[in-house]
Amino acid sequence: ADEVGPSTKGSDFVVVANRLPVDLVTAPDGGTRWKRSPGGLVTALEPILRGNKGAWVGWPGVADADPDPLIEDGVELHSVPLSAAEVEDYYEGFSNATLWPLYHDVIVKPVYDRKWWSAYVEVNRRFAESAAKVAAQGATVWIQDYQLQLVPKMLRMLRPDLTIGFFLHIPFPPIELFMQMPWRTEIIEGLLGADLIGFHLPGGAQNFLYLARRLAGQPTSRGSIGVRSKLGVVQVGFRSVRVGAFPISIDSGNLDERSKLKSIRDRAKQIRKDLGNPKHIMLGVDRLDYTKGIDVRLNALLELLEEKRVDPASVAMLQLATPSRERVDSYVQLRSQVERQVGRINGEYGEMAHPVVNYLHRPVPRDELIAYFVAADVMLVTPFRDGMNLVAKEYVACRSDLGGALVLSEFTGAAAELRQAYLCNPHDLEGVKDSIVAALEQDRDEGRKRMRALRRQVLTHDVERWAKSFLAALSGGGVAGSALIAD
Ligand code: ADP
Ligand code: F6P
Repeated sequence: ADEVGPSTKGSDFVVVANRLPVDLVTAPDGGTRWKRSPGGLVTALEPILRGNKGAWVGWPGVADADPDPLIEDGVELHSVPLSAAEVEDYYEGFSNATLWPLYHDVIVKPVYDRKWWSAYVEVNRRFAESAAKVAAQGATVWIQDYQLQLVPKMLRMLRPDLTIGFFLHIPFPPIELFMQMPWRTEIIEGLLGADLIGFHLPGGAQNFLYLARRLAGQPTSRGSIGVRSKLGVVQVGFRSVRVGAFPISIDSGNLDERSKLKSIRDRAKQIRKDLGNPKHIMLGVDRLDYTKGIDVRLNALLELLEEKRVDPASVAMLQLATPSRERVDSYVQLRSQVERQVGRINGEYGEMAHPVVNYLHRPVPRDELIAYFVAADVMLVTPFRDGMNLVAKEYVACRSDLGGALVLSEFTGAAAELRQAYLCNPHDLEGVKDSIVAALEQDRDEGRKRMRALRRQVLTHDVERWAKSFLAALSGGGVAGSALIAD
């Protein structure tokens, strides 16, 4: 990475996200280095910005760090520093203990804290100011995700010349749940500062349109919203704000290619061998988050073992869990719960040197992850709620051999596209167990047929298509909604 001086002209394309694509890590000797940030947002946006001469405004991932701007893979990275108190109140508090659980169906009870809200407003203002400095005259600025919902309006007030897009990477909640939010009107008005607001699914976009009418009192279009088509419109004074559904995806072509490399296929064989050559390998890959239903799949496995529907000698499960938001209470509790469950299964059903569940609480390198996908006979994706879930798509992209089976929760955005997966309701444990058994016992031809159809969807709908369709709509393309109504 090279350092850059302050640009006089500014960038024509700016991404604004809570995190930079890389996190600053302090080594024990006090030195610093950069490492890839966790989560789906970075996975999705990284290939878009690579090669694009844009800028990225975000937090460097540790409190009080304020590194100079630098260029990484052709992208200018600009840090927004956060103090330790802001990390606590804006990031761990309002973003991840208020908005995150509220937008994920209140699986955990959201905390509404006035101090956290003040920090959220303050930090959003700082992001808006930083973006205003970095963007060239008339630039396009693309703001990402729930941590920055006030930035569109703040930025518009600072820089009315900009074209502003906003994309929400997590679900937009049902109206009844959103109405709990004490600062609901401020959030809707904050988002309405954008020219285009994107959601994964038409349902989220539709909910937003209703709330724009009800809370912000603005007239909106009436027609139903399509996928990458039939945008909705909110009339805000003289401005038309468009609202649409743009399901995010992955760099599927790249994964498909890498998964075919001999080095990766050899590594996949080695992984199977290391696991004791079991008949079936089951895999889970998640951030350690209570939305992901890691506990559901472990409970399902435990009961299947108890009921002798699964033979412990013939299966090995591998659960990778990236540490996440480790100081937020519900995450601390989840970690203990998962570790207890893994211990219980292995205590009762494992053998010396052959646990049933292999659990790694750490991120693994990209190629190693691809080798796990290639090795896994059954991929377990069982969230209670997930905006999209890129892991499901990554697994499919890695199965050019047409092998493997995907067990997928109906409550993920991905389930709207991956209809040939073994779909399950994570609240229905018997249903989850039946789906796992069906996936383990699938007939080879049936499995190949399903995987072929899944791959057709994932390979033709990649992240480039997502970004292009959003940015085309932002620059004026797309089909506008019908007549405006106000109520
Ligand atoms: P979220 O954005 O909620 O974290 P997604 O499934 O959409 O969930 O994206 C997660 C991303 O993080 C995927 O690209 C996945 O491959 C990656 N990932 C998750 N866990 C690990 C891990 N243990 N090691 C490496 N990458 C991981
Ligand atoms: O899309 C969900 C998301 O919160 C992203 O905004 C974020 O980059 C990722 O998950 C990881 O979460 P965090 O930034 O809190 O570690």
